Amino acid sequence: MLRLEGLSFSYGAVRAVRNVDMEIVQGTIHGIIGPNGAGKSTCIDLISGRQRPTSGAVVYRGENITRRPVRWRRHAGISRSFQRISVYQGLTVADQLDLAAGAVGERQLDHIVDVLDLRSTLTAKCSETSYGEQRRVDIALALLGEPALVLLDEPAAGLSQAESIQLADHLADLARERDSTFVLVEHDMEVVFRICDHLTVLDHGSVIADGKPQDVRSLDIVVDAYLGRAAS
Ligand SMILES: Nc1ncnc2c1ncn2[C@@H]1O[C@H](COP(=O)(O)OP(=O)(O)O)[C@@H](O)[C@H]1O
Ligand SMILES: [Mg+2]
Repeated sequence: MLRLEGLSFSYGAVRAVRNVDMEIVQGTIHGIIGPNGAGKSTCIDLISGRQRPTSGAVVYRGENITRRPVRWRRHAGISRSFQRISVYQGLTVADQLDLAAGAVGERQLDHIVDVLDLRSTLTAKCSETSYGEQRRVDIALALLGEPALVLLDEPAAGLSQAESIQLADHLADLARERDSTFVLVEHDMEVVFRICDHLTVLDHGSVIADGKPQDVRSLDIVVDAYLGRAAS
């Protein structure tokens, strides 16, 4: 579905992403993990088109889309959630979702509302909802229009452990139902090992491991660079 080929990106002198190769298979939940500053969010930006690589290519369904703008990619089925809330604070949750669903022709808004547990929040203004609810509204927005490839950058950030697990299960259900492909950046290892089919581990901008979660988990290089306490 998606291939990153020798992708590199620098912010001035900071080499955030270094010669990254990655293969993301249709219908899987592909986790990208690694310590803070490893280049995970930059990879998401390169896939979504928010940033252009300094070298290398992004290949989507066999087409080189490296130079395609964000809007083109969204239209082609690549969608992302944002770390910060992208909702209009003055609208009700229902109005916000209706507007966005209308714009992309989503027919199963009711279902997405249920999957993300937003039913009881619909009549609230976005400004009145909790952080966890706003996160879920933001994720709902990213899921509208049945995108083929959904990029989620730390969807569970700031949520309680119970909320994180519930969200992860809902996302996994939705991915399976829709046969969508998810790229999930997440630091909560319980979430990662619960729902990811495949993992790529980044450290200092480079891929240090890639494979099935149970295989990646036991690699010394991963434990040293990242899992550390979480694995012990
Ligand atoms: N806007 C920016 N300007 C300069 N450096 C940045 C910027 N964004 C990220 N970086 C640097 O790029 C590297 C990778 O960052 P990032 O992709 O955000 O990592 P991660 O998401 O894995 O924490 C880090 O060294 C970070 O400090
Ligand atoms: Mg990040």
